[in-house]
Amino acid sequence: MQLKNTVTQSLEIEFPIIMAPMFLVSNEAMVTAAMDAGIMGCFPSLNYRKEGEFEKVLDNLNEYRAKTNSKGSYGINLIVQRTNPLYAKHLAAAVERKVPFYITSLGNPKETIEKAHSYGAKVYCDVTNLEHAKKCYDLGCDGFIAVGQGAGGHAGPYPQQLLVPTLRKHFPDTPVISAGGVAHGSGIVSMLALGAEGVSIGTLFIASTEGGVSQDYKQAMVDYGMEDIVMSDKISGTPCTIVNTPYAKKIGYKQNWLEKALSTNKRTKKYFKMLVQLRGMKRLESALQPATYKTLWVAGQSVEMIDEIRPCKEIVEKLKVETFETLDQLSKMAKNQVAKVEA
Ligand SMILES: Cc1cc2nc3c(=O)[nH]c(=O)nc-3n(C[C@H](O)[C@H](O)[C@H](O)COP(=O)(O)O)c2cc1C
Repeated sequence: MQLKNTVTQSLEIEFPIIMAPMFLVSNEAMVTAAMDAGIMGCFPSLNYRKEGEFEKVLDNLNEYRAKTNSKGSYGINLIVQRTNPLYAKHLAAAVERKVPFYITSLGNPKETIEKAHSYGAKVYCDVTNLEHAKKCYDLGCDGFIAVGQGAGGHAGPYPQQLLVPTLRKHFPDTPVISAGGVAHGSGIVSMLALGAEGVSIGTLFIASTEGGVSQDYKQAMVDYGMEDIVMSDKISGTPCTIVNTPYAKKIGYKQNWLEKALSTNKRTKKYFKMLVQLRGMKRLESALQPATYKTLWVAGQSVEMIDEIRPCKEIVEKLKVETFETLDQLSKMAKNQVAKVEA
């Protein structure tokens, strides 16, 4: 099943879905499954922090893509900020291996865009507002990932219904991928109706057989609902969506006055932010182990729509079927409207 548009053509995929990069969750198995399913599989470069690990995964993915003559493609997510100690190393390794697609988060994507464009790769930038979108546009990004209010992880402040058409209005030639809250084909169609040319889906894929986290975390995606998702500053210093586990309640959701002071003071801010991120990473790493009283799980409100843990292939197939069913229903509705008006 294919749904082609300018984005699928330029990214060399068959269906406009990006399997969103997720810290600790995304892994090689998920990305190859995404490629097999004809979509774009992405992972954060920071999921591979040991010496030589990241390079090895890229080599494997390039080999797999060529060997299987893949219907899909893959990309990496780079945190393009000084607080990411592996940024320069990971960018150099990715450019050397001609990674086809990049998603940049935070900071300044200039260097990534220039280096990726030197060999024809595409760069889409995570944006949550017009100011950052303008900066990325001026630097020559190929598209926006519009991270809206409903997204898992660092959700944006604006709802998709506002963010997507606003980006289209201000940057009509730059494709928009909507990120946040989609876990059903009807959600995909609704984002296309708003002017997006695709969607980026994260939370739904946490509950995948291939996902690189514990069974408890995956099962939590089935058991918890939208009312159990809260925003916390405790992971990275900026609001992030987490499941409201007893441990999340215990440590609280907001930074205390000292943490706030250290993260805004000119002299301490860079180092304190690095420290908070490091501590957050350590806290999240418990997500790889069976649940303990210290468990923290990052997930978006779309957990509400997750009923079972399934292989990525099945998740994508179901999304495709639902998308075409929704399009059918809409075209029937439109025909009925015409018939009514004519009667
Ligand atoms: C567990 C988890 C980890 C995430 N990690 C990252 C990350 O490392 N980098 C990034 O750019 N976005 C990250 N995100 C955001 C996703 O890439 C994507 O924008 C989001 O999941 C889309 O919303 P959804 O979860 O409602 O589908 C993460 C999201 C989740 C749920």
